Amino acid sequence: MTLPVLKNDRFLRALNRESVDMTPVWMMRQAGRYLPEYRASRKNAGSFMDLCRNAEFACEVTLQPLERYPLDAAILFSDILTIPDAMGMGLYFEAGEGPRFERPVRTAKDIEALPIPGAEDELGYVMNAVSTIRKALNGRVPLIGFAGSPWTLATYMVEGGSSRDFRLLKELMYKQPEVVHLLLDKLAESVTSYLNAQIKHGAQAIQIFDSWGGALSWPAYREFSLQYMQKIIDGLIRENEGRKVPVILFTKGGGLWLEDMAATGCDALGLDWTISMENARQRVGDKVALQGNMDPAVLYGSPESIRKEVKRILDDFGPHNGHVFNLGHGITPFVDPEHARVFIEAVHEFSAR
Ligand code: CP3
Repeated sequence: MTLPVLKNDRFLRALNRESVDMTPVWMMRQAGRYLPEYRASRKNAGSFMDLCRNAEFACEVTLQPLERYPLDAAILFSDILTIPDAMGMGLYFEAGEGPRFERPVRTAKDIEALPIPGAEDELGYVMNAVSTIRKALNGRVPLIGFAGSPWTLATYMVEGGSSRDFRLLKELMYKQPEVVHLLLDKLAESVTSYLNAQIKHGAQAIQIFDSWGGALSWPAYREFSLQYMQKIIDGLIRENEGRKVPVILFTKGGGLWLEDMAATGCDALGLDWTISMENARQRVGDKVALQGNMDPAVLYGSPESIRKEVKRILDDFGPHNGHVFNLGHGITPFVDPEHARVFIEAVHEFSAR
């Protein structure tokens, strides 16, 4: 089967630090609860995981933000917690409380018993979603595949859900580091095969979400988060369908460590809003592209203040190749969808060459 040509490839070009006609833009969590059509689909599907497990529903919600806005990339609708779920931990979502696991892992014995899930078996539903979405996109924009970093997955698996201080995982890390390494090793292996399967099924770029790496000390970040993301990057398929498959590394709160993140061999770094684009570009811009970095809370402001902040960030990056515009973290359920439009259109308007 021949695949349709990519009609809009400015996202992939920017990740390769090639010239573009305007700065590409997408939003982390662009398919989600701030969109009324998403809430309607979730109601039809029954639950969030039902949306993920059914390829037609996953495809429908992936495309919703693209129907509304001139976005330059689509992101697979799924979740980072599909892997621990497929390991048999019993993932469920309690209304208003976020994700929970029925059987958290806290001892060497628990961790030794965890299987490496089959990317084409237990996680085959994700690959179905990737193929279905890729086909429906029909070359409109590239499709991003993703996974959580081993450290970030471990926080949910040991804490049993979301946490503010990661007390249980950090206690284990300082008391029995070898047990945490065993878990992170299994996760790195699982994530690598999961991402490679996504690439084989049609993901054209990959983002690794290290949402909680920034909670670590500098040496602990290297030992418990970065090292395992490095292992994943070393094991990924880097070219498919005759084109490079760029890898974006996003450690929220990682602004102090960009040089080491860039040295992993990734193609781009995702930045949160705490760092200046100019500073980041001067430090690593000859090695990697940069993605970011507007505070999602700016979307609570007025259209004029949103446009002003977009302009500021574009100016901060300057007239160079290698910028993908994004928020510094996911868009929240409280954002007015019209404000998301103002944001996306302003990126294109102010950056048109
Ligand atoms: O970006 C996209 O549009 C693609 C889909 C996507 C989701 N989760 C859908 C989702 C992606 C890329 C993720 C990643 C994810 N999931 C991360 C890393 C990014 C980040 O935000 O730091 C993390 C930490 C998770 C774990 C997770 N999943 C949490 C903490 C929650 C509950 C909090 C919340 O926002 O509701 C989820 C559920 C989830 N994942 C929802 C969506 C759209 C909301 C579910 C619902 O409809 O109620």
